[in-house]
Amino acid sequence: MADRTILITGAAGEIGHGLIQALSGQDGVRLIAMDLRDIPKSLQRCVDASHQGDICDRAFVEHVISLHRVNEVMHLAALLSTSAERAPEQAHEVNVQGTFNLLRTAAEQAQSYDAPIRFIFPSTIAIYGVDPREKTTLPPLREFQALRPITMYGANKLYCEAMGRYYGRYYRSITRGDRQAPIDFRCLRLPGIISADTVPVGGTSDYVPEMIHASARGEACTCFVREDTSLPWMMMPECVQAILQLAEAPVLSRCVYNVASFSATAGTFAEAVRKHFPAAEITFETHEARQALVDTWPADVDCLRAREDWGYTPRWTLDEAMREYIVPTVRARYGDPRSTEGNAL
Ligand code: SER
Repeated sequence: MADRTILITGAAGEIGHGLIQALSGQDGVRLIAMDLRDIPKSLQRCVDASHQGDICDRAFVEHVISLHRVNEVMHLAALLSTSAERAPEQAHEVNVQGTFNLLRTAAEQAQSYDAPIRFIFPSTIAIYGVDPREKTTLPPLREFQALRPITMYGANKLYCEAMGRYYGRYYRSITRGDRQAPIDFRCLRLPGIISADTVPVGGTSDYVPEMIHASARGEACTCFVREDTSLPWMMMPECVQAILQLAEAPVLSRCVYNVASFSATAGTFAEAVRKHFPAAEITFETHEARQALVDTWPADVDCLRAREDWGYTPRWTLDEAMREYIVPTVRARYGDPRSTEGNAL
């Protein structure tokens, strides 16, 4: 039997792609993919089994976890912040009830095999809610500060952090005696994530990946937040690396960690994109409602605990990331937009 049988929910999503590619073929690892959507053939080839279905369907979740005797869950499936504001009740169903189904089923399986199940949960900067007037003057936020989300997505994730902590530390505390808790819960609060391979759907930090991919394809792009809007960011390979590092860390002092590589404004990203794609047409047209969401997310977060406990280290600054990761990858994907223009003439 494999040492690690890892269930990846939301496998067909952006982070799922990156994680599956990184874990596929590793010794002692079996990968079980789960997604509501069709799992692309290219990903199916990288996993040991794949299941299409809904995490809100408890019988389906139970079937998959017990069929494969899963001992680790990387729970990526979620409706992101903009999608969640469009359908808040559905977001609650998926983000909260779906997570609860997984935690509860994993806890039952852990108890029946008398071995805890590791549960990796990506949370988000959307669990924070800063006063927009103070946003740019606040120091990088620590994990316990400003926990006042204004979005359904942020509220869902913050509650699920608490539920994970409960299953990981306090589950049935009155009757459990000295048996260990069934879930080894580990959570990272992700900043805006930028992938050179995929474009996100339904998030509010999507304006940066949208601007990069549109410019690389030679298309115009309208950024829906103001130029001075700042958020913390990281690149997809750093995100995947952080998830794997946290999953493999031996001893942790807490359940929840901030991670981010750098903080940057939308205007700084636009400049960086124009530097590499001089023909880029990026304009700014504020979508007030989406702007209001990111205005409550911190400009930066303090990642000291992740550094100290499991050696989290950002890999790239913005300039390095553009040069070493984004530009070569998108050029390989879309070609050089200048030569496309030339071909069209
Ligand atoms: N990227 C997420 C979103 O925009 C925030 O964590 O919803």
